[in-house]
Amino acid sequence: MGSKYLLAFAFLVLAFFPDSSRSAIPRWLGEQKMRGSVIRMKTGGSSAAIDPTRVTQLSWRPRAFLYKGFLSNEECDHLMDMARDKLEKSMVADNESGKSIASEVRTSSGMFLGKAQDEVVAEIEARIAAWTFLPAENGESIQILHYEHGQKYEPHYDYFHDKANQELGGHRVATVLMYLSNVEKGGETVFPNAEGKLTQPKSDDLSDCAKNGYSVKPMKGDALLFFSLHLNATTDTSSLHGSCPVIEGEKWSATKWIHVRSFDKLTRNSVDGECKDDNVNCPMWARAGECQKNPVYMVGSEDSYGSCRKSCKVCSS
Ligand SMILES: *[C@@H]1O[C@H](CO)[C@@H](O)[C@H](O)[C@H]1NC(C)=O
Ligand SMILES: *[C@@H]1O[C@H](CO)[C@@H](O)[C@H](O)[C@H]1NC(C)=O
Repeated sequence: MGSKYLLAFAFLVLAFFPDSSRSAIPRWLGEQKMRGSVIRMKTGGSSAAIDPTRVTQLSWRPRAFLYKGFLSNEECDHLMDMARDKLEKSMVADNESGKSIASEVRTSSGMFLGKAQDEVVAEIEARIAAWTFLPAENGESIQILHYEHGQKYEPHYDYFHDKANQELGGHRVATVLMYLSNVEKGGETVFPNAEGKLTQPKSDDLSDCAKNGYSVKPMKGDALLFFSLHLNATTDTSSLHGSCPVIEGEKWSATKWIHVRSFDKLTRNSVDGECKDDNVNCPMWARAGECQKNPVYMVGSEDSYGSCRKSCKVCSS
């Protein structure tokens, strides 16, 4: 009797999960795996473990989060060693042309690593993707920055004002700023437009510059994640941020800028007047009225092209 029921149950399971052997994990098994405080993501052979209990929300305007001990001391030292003899004066993007120019607003020196340049970098990039829920391919390669005494980066936005810099990957949606060293005094990351700037308790060890906004003191291994776009994909002016002048010691940091689309592949076809769709589903979405319902993605906004300009008939080829 009992075995008959068991058999019937087995058939039922098979009926509900016809190809459980290939893809779908039975739901109860999936839930089992999700329990516990550590989320593991398998990416190309290396596993990226994220511990959500080490993350705190600093602010909602802008959306900013701090992950204590995101990098190990060894990872920090490794990144600094990779950069040490390759640093060059940092540049900024010109507002109109988008070209890299030298500017007194940014006096640090820096260099870009290659994406997944070595195993340590690949592991960190996988961890960033796991934490932010944003795909690794949407990220630029990591930039290492070095600030000596008096060096700073005046408050600025990480989203671009020019169209040229948005052609690959669209706007920068988020930034992960990793602190590779402690700084004795100064060098804080400051958000002058943050909602919480007045209510944040300011301890005496902060520099005067840091008192002008919501500020984060660099601590070796910590990572700061903040978003430059609102949830509706428009630019968030409260994401204005700067690096205060270093007063004592030196500052090392590593930055990962993450775009709304892939930064690896040239997926944007609407380069300079070209009238194309970026997605094969554009004609279908356009017929379904998405050009009107979701104009920022489909058509674009003031400062960036949408992905279905051809199907939405806002350009002519
Ligand atoms: C670039 O444009 C932004 C916003 O329009 C402005 O706040 C900033 O001062 C400009 N920077 C330069 C160097 O012109
Ligand atoms: C987008 O969201 C922001 C923040 O919630 C809001 O201030 C802004 O008006 C919104 N813009 C549009 C076009 O919906």
